[in-house]
Amino acid sequence: MGVAETFDRSARSYDVSRRMLVPCFDGFYGSALDVLPGDRTRTLHVLDLGAGTGLLSMLVAAEYPRARFTLVDVAPGMLKIAHERFAAQAERFAFRVGDLASVELPSDVDCAISALAIHHLPAFEKAALSRRVFDALRPGGVFVNAEQVAGETEQEDAANHRTWREEARALGATEEDLSLADERMSEDQPSTVPEQLAWLSEAGFEEVACRFRHGMFAVLAGRKPLPQS
Ligand SMILES: C[S@@+](CC[C@H](N)C(=O)[O-])C[C@H]1O[C@@H](n2cnc3c(N)ncnc32)[C@H](O)[C@@H]1O
Repeated sequence: MGVAETFDRSARSYDVSRRMLVPCFDGFYGSALDVLPGDRTRTLHVLDLGAGTGLLSMLVAAEYPRARFTLVDVAPGMLKIAHERFAAQAERFAFRVGDLASVELPSDVDCAISALAIHHLPAFEKAALSRRVFDALRPGGVFVNAEQVAGETEQEDAANHRTWREEARALGATEEDLSLADERMSEDQPSTVPEQLAWLSEAGFEEVACRFRHGMFAVLAGRKPLPQS
């Protein structure tokens, strides 16, 4: 089963399981929001890569009432839920079904955001996406990727996975929840934090940093430089 079918199959139950399956939910998504511009009245164009049901866009939209959004995802069933979520503010939201590896990105983006999506791409496509996002951003724009990452060793990776299971179980995840999550994760291709920071730097981003880390969850960010005056 491909990624789109896997996510479409659990699209309706996706949101309710999030706080259990992302045990550091508040710190993780909150750190991603912290990277965004301080002026919340700005009319930003936000591009959400692998937007799914629109969870991250929803958090950003609540903080930036004048921002407009383009949500991209390969799974039409996930985007359908995002569409329903934002129906009352339809003029602020555009939707694009497409694969992050090849979809055309808009060219007037102030903030590119992503959560738990880019790890579905192989390494070379993650590196290429960093460059494409760089091109899509206006000077001064930010890219924040709240991501599932690989440990730097097999041992670290296994320990991160064990911790995730224990924390998710403690928050009420059932064995069925965990096995469905395992099934989805079997298709994942996560990369390490140092690899991903290097791809951001190579693409031309500055202020490249890991802004949050909790086991397999990390928030990676960079800013497109302003032209030299
Ligand atoms: C775990 S969900 C995350 C959704 C949302 N960003 C969130 O934080 O809740 C991963 C999403 O990435 C999407 N996705 C996976 N691979 C993709 C690809 N190659 N192109 C576009 N979207 C992809 C899936 O369809 C799914 O909606």
